[in-house]
Amino acid sequence: MGTYLLLGLSMILIPNSLASHTTSAWNYGVMFDAGSSSSKLKIYKWPTRLSTADAFDMDLMYTQRFKPGISDYVYHPDDIPGYLGKILNKAKSIVPVTLHHSTPLFMMATAGLRVLPESDAIALMTSARQYLGNASVNPFTYSPHTVRILSGEEEGAYGWIAANYLRNFFGSNKPPSQAVGVLEMGGGSTQITFVPDGPILANMFPVRMAGVTYYLYAHSYLYYGQTYMAYRIRRYLEEESPLDTELYNPCMLRGDNVSYSSDDGTTVILRGDSNPTKCLEILNSFLQSAEENSCYPKPCAIGQIYQPSLGTDTFFAISAYVYAPTTLRALDPFGRLKIKAMNTSAHQYCRMTLAQAINATGTAAEYASGYCMMGLYIPSLLTSSYGFPSSTNRIQVADKINGESVDWALGAVLYELEQIDYYNWLETCGEVSGGQRPVVSLVVWVLLGMVTFYIRNLTNVL
Ligand SMILES: *[C@@H]1O[C@H](CO)[C@@H](O)[C@H](O)[C@H]1NC(C)=O
Ligand SMILES: *[C@@H]1O[C@H](CO)[C@@H](O)[C@H](O)[C@H]1NC(C)=O
Ligand SMILES: *[C@@H]1O[C@H](CO)[C@@H](O)[C@H](O)[C@H]1NC(C)=O
Ligand SMILES: *[C@@H]1O[C@H](CO)[C@@H](O)[C@H](O)[C@H]1NC(C)=O
Ligand SMILES: *[C@@H]1O[C@H](CO)[C@@H](O)[C@H](O)[C@H]1NC(C)=O
Repeated sequence: MGTYLLLGLSMILIPNSLASHTTSAWNYGVMFDAGSSSSKLKIYKWPTRLSTADAFDMDLMYTQRFKPGISDYVYHPDDIPGYLGKILNKAKSIVPVTLHHSTPLFMMATAGLRVLPESDAIALMTSARQYLGNASVNPFTYSPHTVRILSGEEEGAYGWIAANYLRNFFGSNKPPSQAVGVLEMGGGSTQITFVPDGPILANMFPVRMAGVTYYLYAHSYLYYGQTYMAYRIRRYLEEESPLDTELYNPCMLRGDNVSYSSDDGTTVILRGDSNPTKCLEILNSFLQSAEENSCYPKPCAIGQIYQPSLGTDTFFAISAYVYAPTTLRALDPFGRLKIKAMNTSAHQYCRMTLAQAINATGTAAEYASGYCMMGLYIPSLLTSSYGFPSSTNRIQVADKINGESVDWALGAVLYELEQIDYYNWLETCGEVSGGQRPVVSLVVWVLLGMVTFYIRNLTNVL
């Protein structure tokens, strides 16, 4: 009966709170997705939902990329207003003027800012907040909390929300065990997020969507993304032969060379060596799990990082998980990853020269060596670190679900909107002004009485 009463209460109170802060059937939300190499403006649009037990009906109506990324301003933060001003002006021209004041603005940064020294990251975000917090510049709804660097776990949880949202999971009354887990591979970090079957001893992230709370396990491994992993391999080789200005990179294909300027300013040439065995050895040195006696809580995935067992969930592997398995032909006809086939195919591919790889797969020269590294990295990460059996068919590789990109930014906006509705609902309960209170409580009690009577009557019938 308690549940019914709560249900009754929320039916009475929540539509009111929604109605009071929307003046139109359409709502907009503005997101600045501050990535490491660019910022992307994303504008979402949705009709007012009727009940908090419904899912939102969100549409990405506009997107535009602005180069460079905000971390390029670390040595000249005075230029941030000019940079953000361009993005803001674009947003102002897209969202109808009458809705500017009721449109929330978010600016969220990911791994590119997570790797900066803390003081640099704070300085960047402070100037962004100063600029966006100025109401004569920014007409949108602003809160310092929504202009921030995301933690890796938030990024993982928001990716999970986006994937399950696009599958129409929320509001469907399906049990949490039918949600899909998400594996995400970015440039800087890689995320794993799912609803475990058992308890979650660390890294729990509760998410409330369409009236249901989900308890997620989420972890983000910083420096395990595609770009940073290539960088770590380079550092490994530098440390192995600190005096050499010519390094042989086993994870790059023969015939592929890149030169770069090292920390002390000397030019170093990296030459591809097409050696999968040695490449895998280096990769595995980054994936070691901690010894039994230094892993608490257990079990550990990489290093001392706790991860509960995978259970029986299906996973979606998104972003940079898509390209290498596709190029290495390691997907079954349903788009599911075949881990063993990927490993075998990567070993063959990694022994080729750059020219042979291009000839064999039609891939572009600039990505060819990357597929060798990712081809070896992904199977190892999934099996020895995360604990997937190499024969699994539970990993669905996809960058889109129902035609739309699985993007943490979509999940972040949905998450924040659910929070806003929840706090509005709490406010409506607690902060009704003195004069209205007796009237409101009378109405509430009468309605509650009707709901209770109706349910009793219904129970008698059944
Ligand atoms: C807000 O922006 C206006 C217009 O650019 C500027 O004149 C004013 O100094 C700014 N206020 C603050 C507190 O930065
Ligand atoms: C890389 O270096 C090798 C050996 O010097 C050379 O034969 C090859 O053409 C170079 N490849 C590129 C893409 O520069
Ligand atoms: C390219 O592939 C074709 C067959 O697909 C083969 O006949 C040819 O020798 C290959 N060329 C090189 C340079 O590997
Ligand atoms: C990939 O192949 C190598 C070499 O055959 C093997 O040592 C490794 O265990 C394999 N990894 C997976 C995940 O199958
Ligand atoms: C209560 O239940 C009876 C059937 O037992 C039904 O005829 C009646 O319409 C119901 N009343 C209300 C208020 O739902």
